[in-house]
Amino acid sequence: MSYLLALDQGTSSSRSIVFNAQGRVVAMAQREFPQIYPQPGWVEHDPMALWQTQLATAREALTKAGLTAREVSAIGITNQRETTVVWNRLTGQPVHNAIVWQDRRAEPLCAQLREQGHAPQVREATGLIIDAYFSGTKIRWILDNVPGARGAAERGELAFGTVDSWLLWQLTDGRVHATDVSNAARTMLFNVRENRWDERLLDLLQVPASMLPAVHPSSHVFGETNADLLGASIPVGGMAGDQQSALFGQACFKAGMAKNTYGTGCFMLMHTGEKFQTSANGLITTSASQPSATPEFALEGSVFIGGAVVQWLRDGLQAIKGSGEVQQLAESVPDAGGVMFVPAFTGLGAPYWDADARGAIVGLTRGSTVAHIARAALESIAFQSAALLQAMSRDAVAAGSAPVSELRVDGGACVNDLLMQFQADLLGIPVVRPEVIETTALGAAYLAGLSTGVWGGLDELSQQWRAQRVFTPTLPRDRAAERMARWEHAVRQTVAL
Ligand code: G3P
Repeated sequence: MSYLLALDQGTSSSRSIVFNAQGRVVAMAQREFPQIYPQPGWVEHDPMALWQTQLATAREALTKAGLTAREVSAIGITNQRETTVVWNRLTGQPVHNAIVWQDRRAEPLCAQLREQGHAPQVREATGLIIDAYFSGTKIRWILDNVPGARGAAERGELAFGTVDSWLLWQLTDGRVHATDVSNAARTMLFNVRENRWDERLLDLLQVPASMLPAVHPSSHVFGETNADLLGASIPVGGMAGDQQSALFGQACFKAGMAKNTYGTGCFMLMHTGEKFQTSANGLITTSASQPSATPEFALEGSVFIGGAVVQWLRDGLQAIKGSGEVQQLAESVPDAGGVMFVPAFTGLGAPYWDADARGAIVGLTRGSTVAHIARAALESIAFQSAALLQAMSRDAVAAGSAPVSELRVDGGACVNDLLMQFQADLLGIPVVRPEVIETTALGAAYLAGLSTGVWGGLDELSQQWRAQRVFTPTLPRDRAAERMARWEHAVRQTVAL
């Protein structure tokens, strides 16, 4: 029997999951770590806390599974993307806290780059828009602001990595400094068409090439772990950024296949095969997890406030005591009674891209109750995701491909049947929930198992992936279109606020 250990280093916790060769969860462990907010708009993590919580969960998951490290065929790493760690190669010590993907401190530099007209060059090479979200300008901030950092970087003493690289470095005791294409694609320094670091972008952001990790396909034996850590040496057979890993774990291997992860926010990705396709509808282009050296791409869009709207119902509005109560409250009314809730708390992402938009609840009457608001809040997750999927389908059709024909779902809120049914009703295509909803970790396990011979190829994985429930649309299409039109109308109300 083969087992895979997936390390899933996320924004709010580190998790480790043991899978068997059928891709089923055997054991899981999770630990949170502190979020550090040095000033408004800044978010940091202690890189050592990321590593230590990750290692602790790996040990715990193996113990819970009753396995020794010798019984594990390979490790797969998946991670919060873009989060930037810079460390000293000689001492292994980070020179600064990790700057988290949500951190906005590099925005002034991004504005300057946009004003200087660099957007087309960045888009052409990386598929990205210029934004403080990505790693490149975070590296630059560290080099410009940490005393001595630039000189040390120029002497070749510093290493940069996204969290996958940092964990790999730790797991291999500093022997391996590498990343995979899907993580490199989030740095704004990587030419995704040619799978290589882009010298012009390195010059533009003044990042010395010596800091950068080697880049490999996502399924690749990156190195062997130090035997002291888990009791025996284990090959690290796969690495991918968490959203691309989830796309892989959903067995979305071909053009036109799409997944949506319903977490705090929602991340939707559509595979576009070997085609680098730019969006005319506000999406970004990114590298998909790549099992081989052939570049593969995806279009990506994100909803900033997804499941977080339920937290707001709990903590802000105090309409519920626990997040679990939302479905019951929402189901206590037959519909939202005309109430529309646009949770633009932090602006709106794709396809609207309005940083200044703020939330609104519209359509209130004297008959409106907190249950209608709860239902409208849940529905807002589906409306925002539907707007993203429509944008993707428009891009697919413009590129001569078929529109998306089903949406595979995962993440915490996908267990909510009401939400999933409403999602299918809005989209007019089946919404498919898999048996294993831990698809982020599963993707990393798949990648690691492919490179180490646990699985023979993608067909085997496609057969192994199973739907648990298919939500079939029941709403007539004209009614769905009417509801989307009301949503878009409500969105327009937030812009003027
Ligand atoms: O791009 C950011 C994304 O990778 C973070 O994912 O699940 O850690 O919030 P998560």
